Amino acid sequence: MMSADVLEQTTLRERSGGLGGANFLVTGAHGFIGAWVTKRLLAAGARVVIFDRDADPRRLRLIMDDEEVARAIVVTGDITEPGALPPLIEAFEVGHVIHLAGLQVPTCRADPRAGALVNVVGTINVFEAARLSGGRVKKVVYASSAAVFGTARDGRAVSELDEPQPSTHYGVFKRANEGNARVYHLDHGLSSVGLRPLTVYGVGRDFGLTSDPTKAMKAAVVGLPFRIRFGGRTDFQYVADTSDVFIRAAVSGLEGAHVFNLHGETVRVADVVAEIERTRPSARGSITLDETPLAIPAEFDDSAIRAALGALPATPLAEGVRATIERFEELRRAGRLDASDLEQ
Ligand SMILES: NC(=O)c1ccc[n+]([C@@H]2O[C@H](COP(=O)([O-])OP(=O)(O)OC[C@H]3O[C@@H](n4cnc5c(N)ncnc54)[C@H](O)[C@@H]3O)[C@@H](O)[C@H]2O)c1
Repeated sequence: MMSADVLEQTTLRERSGGLGGANFLVTGAHGFIGAWVTKRLLAAGARVVIFDRDADPRRLRLIMDDEEVARAIVVTGDITEPGALPPLIEAFEVGHVIHLAGLQVPTCRADPRAGALVNVVGTINVFEAARLSGGRVKKVVYASSAAVFGTARDGRAVSELDEPQPSTHYGVFKRANEGNARVYHLDHGLSSVGLRPLTVYGVGRDFGLTSDPTKAMKAAVVGLPFRIRFGGRTDFQYVADTSDVFIRAAVSGLEGAHVFNLHGETVRVADVVAEIERTRPSARGSITLDETPLAIPAEFDDSAIRAALGALPATPLAEGVRATIERFEELRRAGRLDASDLEQ
């Protein structure tokens, strides 16, 4: 297994010869995964243009120092505005687009109209901007989700051949994006890679049901009790690995409209709690969990993406939990750990 740190040094620098001179547009880069994608792109020497509705770089500042954060170019804007992206692609000579901006499950449930506007129309706007770039952008890499699969199946690993049956508006919107991506390739020859993460964890994860394991790690550091609102097993992936796959897909020579499942490690939520307690023994007994599993299958087969992109990073659970807790601890010592998201 290759850890995320080793991969940061080898894959991005050596295998692809570094990303110096490559210009990336990352939508939603003030969010959790986007902040990590930005960190890893900057580390590999790429130029990053951040496009986000939220002007607050707080998640970037949780994982990078201010000097690194300042290297990214930030443009504040709304993805639902059709004219927002084409001038950026032109002005910054963007060659790669990683599209992560979107609303999560609870927001889409509470306001399906806003969910459709941001997640579906917003994604159309990204594809339109790529199409109108005159060939400058050859491929769009975008976040789909394991939520396209809806309720859990019979326990076997789910592959791309399984039929998606989303059980949330969010999952339906993600599935619609996969269909629209296919049509952009049919109609305009625009290539794309849609990636379907499940439960991604790491510093910066602070919203939605599947953020609970990360919040439990933070609670262990600040010494608060915390209840994870789901149980059973889930496919659990460290954010550095997820981010690396987005970047690998973006710089790959893949053509066509691809959609891939991602797979981290399928673990019992109780094992995540045990790992937190092993790393931070003072938290023993203060983290609890509900029994209800997520309404998404617990294990994904990622052989298709490994066949397409080669070996992928797979940070073991113990290492990912340790890295996350260590970073939370550093932030706590520096008086920079906001625990307001732990209120239950
Ligand atoms: N985190 C996970 O476990 C997970 C799992 C599956 C899929 N995904 C998908 O990956 C992507 C990134 O997830 P995340 O956890 O980083 O989410 P996040 O909520 O932390 O980040 C999303 C970002 O999008 C921005 N955004 C929202 N609406 C916007 C708009 N109208 N215009 C511009 N920017 C807007 C937000 O400000 C935010 O910074 C999302 O599309 C999400 O659905 C995440």
